[in-house]
Amino acid sequence: MSTKSVRDATSNQLLEYSRKQGDEKQSITTSWGVPIPEKDASLTVGYHGPTLLQDWVLIDELAHFSRERIPERVVHAKGAGAFGYFEVTHDITQYTAAKVFSEVGKKTPIAVRFSQVAGEMGYADTVRDLRGFAIKFYTEDGIWDLVGNNLPIFFVKDSALFPNFIHVLKRNPKTHIRPDYDMFWDFISLRQETTHTTLMMFSDRGIPDSYRHMHGYGVNTFAFVNAHGKFVYCKFHYLTNQGIANLTSERAQQIAGADPEYLIRDLYNAIATGDYPSWNMYIQIMTPEQAAASPYDPFDDTKVWLHADYPLIPVGKFVLNKNPNSYFAEVEQIGFDVAHLIPGIEPSPDRMLQGRLFNYGDTHRYRLGINNTQLPVNSPFRVSNYQRDGQSTLSSQSGAPNYHPNSFKGPENDRRARALAPVLPISGDAKRIDSGQDDNFTQARLLYEDVLTPDERGRLINNIVSWLKYANTVIQDRSIGNFSKVNEDLGRRIREGLNTYIPQHVNL
Ligand code: HEM
Repeated sequence: MSTKSVRDATSNQLLEYSRKQGDEKQSITTSWGVPIPEKDASLTVGYHGPTLLQDWVLIDELAHFSRERIPERVVHAKGAGAFGYFEVTHDITQYTAAKVFSEVGKKTPIAVRFSQVAGEMGYADTVRDLRGFAIKFYTEDGIWDLVGNNLPIFFVKDSALFPNFIHVLKRNPKTHIRPDYDMFWDFISLRQETTHTTLMMFSDRGIPDSYRHMHGYGVNTFAFVNAHGKFVYCKFHYLTNQGIANLTSERAQQIAGADPEYLIRDLYNAIATGDYPSWNMYIQIMTPEQAAASPYDPFDDTKVWLHADYPLIPVGKFVLNKNPNSYFAEVEQIGFDVAHLIPGIEPSPDRMLQGRLFNYGDTHRYRLGINNTQLPVNSPFRVSNYQRDGQSTLSSQSGAPNYHPNSFKGPENDRRARALAPVLPISGDAKRIDSGQDDNFTQARLLYEDVLTPDERGRLINNIVSWLKYANTVIQDRSIGNFSKVNEDLGRRIREGLNTYIPQHVNL
């Protein structure tokens, strides 16, 4: 009978540690470094006596334990991280003066975090969901965070709708059940701009087989400024060199029970065994003139920029070759912030991006504290400014003055950054404009009719039916109405799929 090992790099992690330690023994210490005489017993009066308040070893241990968890991310709570480098392979200095792209061959250290979106820290890796794909570039000009996903578009395009959309992905606040299918399909069917991304999420790409086998996209529209001050809009794509691999719904459900950490395990094992995953990075470029003439809104993140009009331009590649030393310190505490842009990369008027520019810094101040950029994983190579103190301060800035202007050689405005700051001519009436009724179906139709194969269309329909069957009939009818606007056959086939279930008739 042949036998095979069930152990992999993740199972051997502790073994590896003890091997490296050799024979050297270390004493246990308190959090302030004092050696502990007896770790496994509290200080009691006799065998059954009460514990003494002077047992500072126990108090140190318990007090730290009850503070081990910080608030989990309100979205993207579960994830996996790794480190590596980004290398420029093609010259794009005609578009941007960002130093990270300054010359072919240049390498920049990066950290990447992949994530699930909807569930909490403990939920299974193979649930149908979007996947986050965020990259932190440690550049000469400070931190650049590109906080992307594995699909090129998003469900809603106005940040005002984001918290509401996330609520319908999460637990019903009364029943504590997720997904709540009425909540989900109610919102999806009432906001037709969600149709395009909904089709993608229910396609095969809704359940990747590994984080290594999926593409990533910056999703929102950004802008570049070159050394001459010329301004263009851009989108970021990072395409996997491992090839795309997805799981069927049935297989994903089995794995969710058997190995809920399936994606985290895969990434860790691949890197631990030297099978380093890599992606090629591309950009799409649109000039302001093209943006003004575009038949679709280039700042609408529910739409792609058609590759036929805006081809992918190669930029570089990145490789992940190091697992984190501490999951908590380097993955749980990593903070990506969409507002972390470097000179040469700017925001665009994309409404979703605009909301994101505020939100990430705000959530980090809540989740990680005001000095979160001083944590080693978040820290740039150099900081010199006039900020001081606050909770968990690590940096003193070597006695430099803490006020500006000053006469004592404190840091000054950066001439290059000033030259690269674009002058934006902005005018208009400030008002709230609901953009949900722009053309929501043309690109969804292209996806359904021209991109998906007949087999893929069949699985898409089954996947939609497997969620929509639980919703009440009013919401089902409204959803089918929207899918029929994409393609009549799509709507008809979803209806047929639902007809095999007893309908939940209601009046809303
Ligand atoms: C206004 C819209 C949005 C808001 C308010 C928002 C808010 C947030 C918040 C609060 C977090 C948790 C961050 C943390 O605690 O560390 C987060 C994480 C994340 N968001 Fe968004 N988000 C928005 C839209 C998007 C979009 C359109 C994308 C698509 C690219 C996206 C991708 C991500 C990713 C990848 C993460 C995880 C970052 C990590 O790995 O730590 N978000 N978002």
